[in-house]
Amino acid sequence: MKIFIAILFSALAVLATSAAPLREVYKPYFKLGVALNVRQVMDPVAGTLAVREFSSATAENCMKAAEIQPKEGVFNWKYADEFVAFCERGGMKPIGHCLVWHSQPAEWMFTGPDGKPASRELLLRRLYTHVKTVVGRYKVRVKGWDVVNEAFDGKGELSKTKWRELIGPDYIELAFRMVHRVDPDAELYYNDFGMDGAKKRDAVCAMIRNLKAKGIRIDGVGMQTHVNLKHPDLKEFEKSIEAFAAEGVKVMITEMDISVLPAAWNVTAEISTRYDYDEKYNPYRNALPEAVADQLARRYCDFFSIYLRHAGDIDRVTVWGLEDGGSWLNDFPVNGRTDYPLLYDRALKPKLCRDALERLPVSFRGNKR
Ligand code: GLA
Repeated sequence: MKIFIAILFSALAVLATSAAPLREVYKPYFKLGVALNVRQVMDPVAGTLAVREFSSATAENCMKAAEIQPKEGVFNWKYADEFVAFCERGGMKPIGHCLVWHSQPAEWMFTGPDGKPASRELLLRRLYTHVKTVVGRYKVRVKGWDVVNEAFDGKGELSKTKWRELIGPDYIELAFRMVHRVDPDAELYYNDFGMDGAKKRDAVCAMIRNLKAKGIRIDGVGMQTHVNLKHPDLKEFEKSIEAFAAEGVKVMITEMDISVLPAAWNVTAEISTRYDYDEKYNPYRNALPEAVADQLARRYCDFFSIYLRHAGDIDRVTVWGLEDGGSWLNDFPVNGRTDYPLLYDRALKPKLCRDALERLPVSFRGNKR
């Protein structure tokens, strides 16, 4: 009972604010989403905050192949089920993330019974079973899937992943066909980082055209938008929104976060890239200086101003995490740093950038859906 009362009071404290819920503020323009981890879904305080602020949620990890089918035929539904039920209770659109990706894959899929690399046929069969089982389970309830994640490199070429190596370059279209076959009503998305890059932009546009020419369903393109205070150039970023929209698909901002830490490396969201910890890469261990918090708020507003301008083409804007402490950026690409990339701080208090986003649409007219 005591615990229940404590939780109730913490939840009330989170909600005790005169601020307008962001999901309502942005409702005339696009859905506002958040990536949630298992802990947040199960935690009443974080959960209450997420439902108040966001109208969509993406499963941060629990639907990735490594998590949901760690061994052949062994499906781990617990967390994905919780996630979907949580979204339903909160009136949030759940996004299934992600079916085909070279990171966090179900490694066993790539090896045949003889210990050698799986044949094209075997891998396709395993992928189909995976899709049929996972997409099939959440049919009707999950209406949008990131079908393929991060297939292209910065040069606009297909990355040399196991999918490409073992199946061949047509693995993308085959994956889209499979998901459509299992759930003909589901929306299907392609998702990638570094989408401001001209070569990747062109490659993704060509892929959309190719899928469409073959009559294969693709509904949207996800621009991950893992960015920092300087990178990318906003004009290039905006060009990509325009280019994808011109191909006749919905544009989605799917994984937005803004790192405030020094990037002493080539900017990338390729998560296999790691660097050794060094104090000089971790300047704000105790707190975020006001001037940087200000800069962060301005940068968030710069991006959201673009989204508002293109609201007619943008279906959803999702931030990659609820609060700074849970962000993957604290460990990427250097382990053990203290980053501040999201709208809520480590104590679940709204940050300057969150409040700036609440005010932003007031000064904006037009492009409502
Ligand atoms: C990529 C993936 C996400 C997530 C992030 C890091 O962007 O699409 O699922 O793993 O990396 O959190």
